[in-house]
Amino acid sequence: MPDMFESRAYEFYSERLSTMKPVEGTVKRGELLPYHLKAADTALANAVKNPLILTKADLEEGKRLFNIYCAICHGSKLDGNGPLYNGGNGPYVAAPANLGSGPKASYTEGRLFHVMTYGFNAMGSYASQLDREQRWKIAAYIRSFRNNGAEAAAVLAHDSTQAVPAAPAVTAAPAPAAQDSSATK
Ligand code: HEC
Repeated sequence: MPDMFESRAYEFYSERLSTMKPVEGTVKRGELLPYHLKAADTALANAVKNPLILTKADLEEGKRLFNIYCAICHGSKLDGNGPLYNGGNGPYVAAPANLGSGPKASYTEGRLFHVMTYGFNAMGSYASQLDREQRWKIAAYIRSFRNNGAEAAAVLAHDSTQAVPAAPAVTAAPAPAAQDSSATK
C-alpha cells in the first residue's frame, strides 16, 4: 500500500513540481506584474502609480482589509492610535504612524504600497499576508480617507461597476459630500 505512505499529490518543492513552475518572465493569470523596486527605493516608490482600475467595490475591499490588517495598530480612523497602541497604554510600545493627517497623510499610493511590501523600521512587511492587488486596494483606501476619518464620499459614491480615478492628491480641496448617503456605506 505505498499510496498510503507516500501521497500521490504533488508536494511543494518536490522534483515533480519544480518542472511545473511558470515559465521565467511570465506571470500567473490574474496576478499583477511583479514589483521590482528594492526596499531602499523609497523616492522611486513615491512615483509608482496604482495599476488597478479602481471601483467602489475595490475601495470597500481596501477598507475591509485595512481594518483587518492595519487598524489594530494604525486605528480605524488612521490616526495611529489603534487598540494595540492605545495612546501608549497598549501592549504594543512603538507608536504607529498617523496615516490620516500630518506628513504621512501625503504619502502616495505607491509609497503606501512600498511600506506594506517591505515594512518600515518597527513595522513588518505584509507581502506574505496580502497579495499585490490587496496591497494596492488598501493603498487606494488610505488615500481616499479624508477629513478626520470621513472617506472621500465622492469617490466612494461612484457606482461599483464604474471605474473611478485614483484618490485625489491630499492637498486638493475636500471633495463635496455625496447627496446619496446610502451609497457611501
Ligand atoms: C503591529 C502594528 C502595526 C500594524 C499591524 C501595521 N503597522 Fe504600519 N506602522 C507601525 C509602526 C510602529 C510604524 C512606525 C514605524 C517607525 O516609524 O519606526 C508604522 C508605520 C507605517 C507607515 C509609515 C512608514 C514611514 O515611511 O514612515 C505606513 C505607511 C504604514 N505603517 C502602513 C501600514 C499599513 C497599510 C498596514 C496594514 C497593511 C500597517 N501599517 C500595519 C505598526 C503597524
